[in-house]
Amino acid sequence: MSHPCSLLLALNLITITLALLSQRSQAQLSPSFYNSTCSNVSAIVRSTVQQAQTSDVRIYASLTRLFFHDCFVQGCDGSVLLVNSSTIQTEQDAVPNKNSIRGFNVVADIKTAVENACPGVVSCADILALTAEASVNLAGGPSWTVLLGRRDSTTANITAANNLPSPFDNLTTLEQKFAAVGLNDTDLVTLSGAHTFGRGQCRFVTPRLYNFSSTVNTDPTLNSTYATTLEQNCPQGGNASVLNNLDPITPNTFDSNYYINLQNHQGLFTSDQELLSDPNATTTASIVNNFAGNQSAFFDSFVQSMINMGNISPLTGSSGEIRTNCSVVNSGSGLELHIRIQHDSDKGSAAE
Ligand code: HEM
Ligand SMILES: *[C@@H]1O[C@H](CO)[C@@H](O)[C@H](O)[C@H]1NC(C)=O
Ligand SMILES: *[C@@H]1O[C@H](CO)[C@@H](O)[C@H](O)[C@H]1NC(C)=O
Ligand SMILES: *[C@@H]1O[C@H](CO)[C@@H](O)[C@H](O)[C@H]1NC(C)=O
Ligand SMILES: *[C@@H]1O[C@H](CO)[C@@H](O)[C@H](O)[C@H]1NC(C)=O
Ligand SMILES: *[C@@H]1O[C@H](CO)[C@@H](O)[C@H](O)[C@H]1NC(C)=O
Ligand SMILES: *[C@@H]1O[C@H](CO)[C@@H](O)[C@H](O)[C@H]1NC(C)=O
Ligand SMILES: *[C@@H]1O[C@H](CO)[C@@H](O)[C@H](O)[C@H]1NC(C)=O
Ligand SMILES: *[C@@H]1O[C@H](CO)[C@@H](O)[C@H](O)[C@H]1NC(C)=O
Ligand SMILES: *[C@@H]1O[C@H](CO)[C@@H](O)[C@H](O)[C@H]1NC(C)=O
Ligand SMILES: *[C@@H]1O[C@H](CO)[C@@H](O)[C@H](O)[C@H]1NC(C)=O
Ligand SMILES: *[C@@H]1O[C@H](CO)[C@@H](O)[C@H](O)[C@H]1NC(C)=O
Ligand SMILES: *[C@@H]1O[C@H](CO)[C@@H](O)[C@H](O)[C@H]1NC(C)=O
Repeated sequence: MSHPCSLLLALNLITITLALLSQRSQAQLSPSFYNSTCSNVSAIVRSTVQQAQTSDVRIYASLTRLFFHDCFVQGCDGSVLLVNSSTIQTEQDAVPNKNSIRGFNVVADIKTAVENACPGVVSCADILALTAEASVNLAGGPSWTVLLGRRDSTTANITAANNLPSPFDNLTTLEQKFAAVGLNDTDLVTLSGAHTFGRGQCRFVTPRLYNFSSTVNTDPTLNSTYATTLEQNCPQGGNASVLNNLDPITPNTFDSNYYINLQNHQGLFTSDQELLSDPNATTTASIVNNFAGNQSAFFDSFVQSMINMGNISPLTGSSGEIRTNCSVVNSGSGLELHIRIQHDSDKGSAAE
């Protein structure tokens, strides 16, 4: 039988532990998270991204998309970066990612540069957040203060990655997928504006050109002049990997032309045009029309929605880890490290 006092002590400890746990789950990201441990991290990320763009004009877009595909799958935790291993089935093989998502080499270069400056400090999840901001800004878009302090997952989820928004989704499905991660119609329309730069493969467009429905071949919400252009670039039976500009007006610039394109029925994917042309698009259509006529309204909203997306269930406190290599989980988990230290000290005392 334990003494009443020790029971009280145990209860107190449980209470304190619960309080700490709930604090941890509510832990907030912070713009100054690396102020004392890696104050130059933003500059390192930005210069590496800018350097990469000199040999790859598409990279700003690709890196921005990488952050989206990270955040929508078990939160912004760097899970998209993990490659196959004994414990990981890579998200990179999921349908929305395979032969599509890119920029991993640049993320690895950034990680190397950041590790050289501040070893073991900055998470891969935060690198993706910083990389997206640098990419958008360097392409002519807004800049913002990135919230930091995310940690990296030790797991991935290919099932969740297979459920990422699809270019063939209708408005209702897009709204559901965004709502599932706490994002509303404003976020959906705003973040879709990232399709102001980058490329899309023919395989995501050709059903709209040739196989729309049993009664019409071409999607009636697709501008017929634009459809003719797309048919030339994406002939039936042609190479399904050929690329189209997401924004035919200013393909590499981050601006509000995406929304003007939607007004002209030149959204590349069904998921784009649905925001304006779905019969039930009243809420989203008024946001599209606002951004089409007011780029600063779009930019202000984009900053807020990127912060909202960046807040999707981050790992904070002592959850997760700071990966040394963004592609793989650290080899020594806490337990293994502990065993190794004990093992080493055993060897040490045996040698004495
Ligand atoms: C609303 C739902 C969305 C759908 C269905 C969607 C779908 C797609 C698809 C199919 C591509 C072309 C990929 C390829 O051809 O290989 C693409 C490209 C792209 N997406 Fe999205 N996307 C969505 C939202 C977003 C969001 C939220 C962002 C970022 C904030 C984003 C940023 C991009 C960028 C920048 C590209 C071009 C990437 C490159 O050139 O490498 N997308 N998207
Ligand atoms: C972190 O650094 C930035 C830029 O140097 C500064 O504006 C900010 O006040 C600092 N924050 C804290 C909490 O030290
Ligand atoms: C910060 O990083 C940038 C880009 O790598 C570099 O040019 C600059 O010298 C660094 N500043 C400091 C104080 O280390
Ligand atoms: C990853 O592993 C799965 C089996 O778990 C395999 O089907 C897939 O081809 C592998 N992907 C790569 C890129 O090696
Ligand atoms: C992976 O994601 C799916 C779909 O979101 C979810 O049902 C499942 O529980 C997740 N698996 C793990 C191990 O978290
Ligand atoms: C939207 O797509 C979902 C899933 O494919 C489907 O069940 C639903 O009927 C579609 N809604 C409309 C209005 O077409
Ligand atoms: C989405 O949420 C934001 C607050 O985060 C709010 O300002 C905005 O009006 C909401 N949009 C819609 C369409 O409800
Ligand atoms: C698409 O439609 C064309 C004719 O317009 C037809 O030849 C082709 O088989 C269809 N493809 C699919 C996948 O239905
Ligand atoms: C298909 O197009 C892609 C992108 O332009 C190119 O990399 C690939 O080599 C092409 N494949 C064939 C078989 O022509
Ligand atoms: C089709 O696009 C052209 C610009 O290329 C535009 O002038 C025209 O109004 C568009 N048509 C529709 C129906 O949106
Ligand atoms: C529009 O909304 C109504 C009511 O929610 C629904 O019954 C209908 O299927 C929707 N249509 C489309 C095209 O989404
Ligand atoms: C454009 O949007 C901004 C909000 O970012 C607003 O302050 C401004 O009044 C709008 N301009 C016009 C012409 O509506
Ligand atoms: C990181 O891990 C990947 C996958 O195992 C490997 O190919 C790569 O060389 C590693 N990078 C570094 C800097 O060690």
